[in-house]
Amino acid sequence: MCGIVGYIGDKLAQPILLNGLKRLEYRGYDSAGMVTYLPVKNSLSIRKLPGKVRVLEALLKKKPLSGNLGISHTRWSTHGEPNQVNAHPHLDCKNEIAIVHNGIIENYAVLKAQLIKEKHKFISQTDTEVIVHLIEKFYKDCSLENAVRQAISKLEGSFAIGVISRREPDKLIGVRCGSPLIVGVGKDENFLASDVPALLDATKEVIFLEENEMAVLSKDKIEITSFSGVPVKMSPVTVSWDVSQAQKGGFTHFMLKEINEQPAVLENMLNQRILKDRPEVFFDQLKISREEIFAVKNITVVACGTAYHAGLCGKYILEELCKISVSVDLSSEFRYRNPLVDKDTLIIAISQSGETADTLAAVREAKKKEAKILAVCNVLGSSLTREADGVIYTNAGPEIGVASTKAYTAQLSVLYLLAIYIADIRKTLDTNTKIGLINTLKTIPRLQEKILKNQKEITAIAQRHHHFGSFLFLGRHINFPSALEGALKLKEISYIPAEGYAAGEMKHGPIALIDEYRAVVCVAPHSKVYEKMISNIQEIHSRRGKIIAIASEGDEKIKELTREVIYIPQVDELFSPLITVLPMQLLAYDISVKRGCDVDQPRNLAKSVTVE
Ligand code: F6R
Repeated sequence: MCGIVGYIGDKLAQPILLNGLKRLEYRGYDSAGMVTYLPVKNSLSIRKLPGKVRVLEALLKKKPLSGNLGISHTRWSTHGEPNQVNAHPHLDCKNEIAIVHNGIIENYAVLKAQLIKEKHKFISQTDTEVIVHLIEKFYKDCSLENAVRQAISKLEGSFAIGVISRREPDKLIGVRCGSPLIVGVGKDENFLASDVPALLDATKEVIFLEENEMAVLSKDKIEITSFSGVPVKMSPVTVSWDVSQAQKGGFTHFMLKEINEQPAVLENMLNQRILKDRPEVFFDQLKISREEIFAVKNITVVACGTAYHAGLCGKYILEELCKISVSVDLSSEFRYRNPLVDKDTLIIAISQSGETADTLAAVREAKKKEAKILAVCNVLGSSLTREADGVIYTNAGPEIGVASTKAYTAQLSVLYLLAIYIADIRKTLDTNTKIGLINTLKTIPRLQEKILKNQKEITAIAQRHHHFGSFLFLGRHINFPSALEGALKLKEISYIPAEGYAAGEMKHGPIALIDEYRAVVCVAPHSKVYEKMISNIQEIHSRRGKIIAIASEGDEKIKELTREVIYIPQVDELFSPLITVLPMQLLAYDISVKRGCDVDQPRNLAKSVTVE
């Protein structure tokens, strides 16, 4: 939550900072701001406004900022409403130091009271402002980095910050503690950013700061130290993402582009993770040995939101193929309930961003109990990947749309492959079945493409249903999590109340909701629970609910109950979530567009939930 970009070099800072902010807007979009250092006046010049980065861009067109040193910010507000005063950057009393911050300062109230007593003037309601006044307090006869070091020693909470000072305009300082921050390595220029996409135009060489590290950048030097000042060995990494992956590529929205990327994401995954010469799954950074996996007695998945839904599907897949008990927990629940995990437990922590605060806390809790941690993650070098014992990267490329789509497919794909891998070790699959499963997986990208070609039909259904005031999504067995995911997609981007339910639970309450004003999406592909779904659909039909069925090609029976059928290709039930979710993503997308909502940046949300 919140995006930071910083620049020091010979070039004009403004366009680089602005471009970076646009790429980080998925992290928050309540307000945006920028400050640069103007050598002629020896001053810090600031522009900030409530609203999205494009509002800041318009202001900068009228009132550009010059200078070759600057920091900028796009905000997801925690403390203080999203107005101009609360927007970052924040300045100290003398307008000498500027700061941008991502995270939460938990003890800010105590610090603020103390600083006010010491005559510091506060103008915002933010927690961030205490940091810049603390730096000011310590910035007497010492360097900026020394003052920052003293200031952060007083802070409790999580923070990534960028700091500049007009007293030392040859320095750009970045600090990481609980929120992500990376250094971009350039030639005669260096950068700070919350995430890789911000820097893709400028450099592919990055250093992922570790927890409790500080970077002091000048245009031709990078120094990284621990908070106590001990130099740290730097290990730059070359990122493989390219600029085009962070652009819309002709699509109207990132979400639509990312929905359409799913067949390629799956295909790449299969090419990378299945040996060419034999039907074996392999993972290059697993770092958990076959012996360790063999010794595992149970598996717990921890995740939030869409990743949690992938985890719920994972339970069906892993239990079916590996014959091992799997529990799935919301990270935010797991972390506070003294969970029963131990050294015999494998924790699978699923997260697109690898920065979700609750999932990181759940992992830390499990580590204390000596469980092995396997991260399933999309973002290279993210906190989760560094704290886990082993990692399986989902390699879906940057996901910019706030609503997760291709990352979900990638997470599911990893879970299928991981289940085959573990089943192999536990000898719960015979070779022919394994070959059959791998061959079926390889057919899925083509089947997904078929659905994507049919978007027009789904758009027409969206046209007929976008006015409904609420939706119910029903599914059974492995498509129960698909129903949850369908409901989440719709509610988060169209703001229509939508609930996902296990269809078998319908008579235990939700059936009371059914009338002619209720749209009910029923996930009903051919499967062993198909007839049960048909019974549910009949019950909804007789209560005049408006059914949208997702059914297998050739299913004529379902037509008797509703004229709104989205046909999907037939596939083995176990793999059906990779297919059934696509029409629901498209439906949510089309309804959101029809209702004029902001598809890629829905209100109140941020992609990376780095605070509790
Ligand atoms: C929904 C969505 C969120 C995330 C959740 C976890 O479309 O994107 O529910 O899935 O915030 O985020 P990660 O996967 O980054 O841990």
